[in-house]
Amino acid sequence: MLNSTDLRINAERLWQDFQALSLIGATVDGQGVHRPALGPAHLEARRWFAQRVQHSGLELRIDSAGNHSGRLECAPAGAPTLLLGSHLDSVPNGGRYDGALGVLAALEVLRVVQKAGLRLPYHLEAIDFTDEEGTLVGLLGSAAFAGALNVEELRSPRGGREMLEAGLARAGLTEDGLLQAVRDPRTLAGYLELHIEQGPRLLNAGVSIGVVSAIVGICSYKVEFMGRADHAGTTPMQVRRDAGLGASAFSLAVRRVVMEQFPDCVANIGQLAYTPGAYNIVPERASLALELRAPEADSFARLEAALLEQARLAAQEHGLGLETHFLGLHQPTPMSPVAQRAIARAAAELGLSAMPLVSGAGHDAQSLAAICPAGMLFIPSQGGASHSPREFSLWEDCVNGANVLLQAATGYAKK
Ligand code: HGY
Ligand code: MN
Ligand code: MN
Repeated sequence: MLNSTDLRINAERLWQDFQALSLIGATVDGQGVHRPALGPAHLEARRWFAQRVQHSGLELRIDSAGNHSGRLECAPAGAPTLLLGSHLDSVPNGGRYDGALGVLAALEVLRVVQKAGLRLPYHLEAIDFTDEEGTLVGLLGSAAFAGALNVEELRSPRGGREMLEAGLARAGLTEDGLLQAVRDPRTLAGYLELHIEQGPRLLNAGVSIGVVSAIVGICSYKVEFMGRADHAGTTPMQVRRDAGLGASAFSLAVRRVVMEQFPDCVANIGQLAYTPGAYNIVPERASLALELRAPEADSFARLEAALLEQARLAAQEHGLGLETHFLGLHQPTPMSPVAQRAIARAAAELGLSAMPLVSGAGHDAQSLAAICPAGMLFIPSQGGASHSPREFSLWEDCVNGANVLLQAATGYAKK
């Protein structure tokens, strides 16, 4: 009698998939990928994934939010579905592992279970969620899937309305479709996601598997300082109303306040644009992309208030106007104890060291946790690098992670 605990992934087949996928949208140095959501490379990666699903004899599903999945009916009719997945979109000039490893490992788990003819109390589905990275909105596909898409976020998405509309058009999607992509939670047994840690903790601890206990909250704002356009050569320095000074003062204040008052939080200003934007014009407007993250709801609210106050003080100090635009929020999210136990048990059965940790990165599991038990497992990131072509994980760690995902998925219902 087949014992599911003896099952292992086919590492060579997973490696072939990983190599093939890494070529799609590969960065010029060949180390990273550039597959921003619903851009040409991302859509090509999805077509490739769809072909792999069909080539594997699995049922292909594409919902009205563009979420792509392969499905294996391996349980009695009417049984719930255990979802395994992540995302194929990347940040601009990102790494090969972020998201991709989780989707490919999920597909590999279904192939192993299918080949073994294993019957489970639930069906399995390997899913790739749309725009996890927030190039357009952030957790777009998984929020739509969970029925949690906020119409407001579609009105003023953090990637800009034009980018969202162009991406939806390119992918043949519509806003109505996004809002209708809800999966009935009663059909779900849970969600498990394999992901790289994207930080240094597992590596520093010499531990193979991270059992994610919770995921940070993420909040996005566009912060705009308004000054006055003037001639950069003839306007005395004393009378300038230079929007760039507000932006610079604010950037330094953000770092100081977070490090001094919110040691368990982070904040980032990832974009800064001056308008009109010329060598010889004093900047009239400085527009910043601010993202703040906190592990708990109360520090999240205090951090948001503290940083908005710093924007106000910077504007006041430099005689500038200020506009702050809220662009979306994903609450700090605990992971399911059931899922954490399944992951920890799988790691132990495979003889792999494991430790609990909070995710400093956001993930689709945050959306899924609202509608079913959700869990994540991490593998080490070499050098802690991510969101960069420097992103790298040892293949042995990738195989370990895929085997833990396999064992957690097949053993999910064990008490
Ligand atoms: O930005 C993040 O935290 C994730 O990689 N999307
Ligand atoms: Mn990711
Ligand atoms: Mn990412």
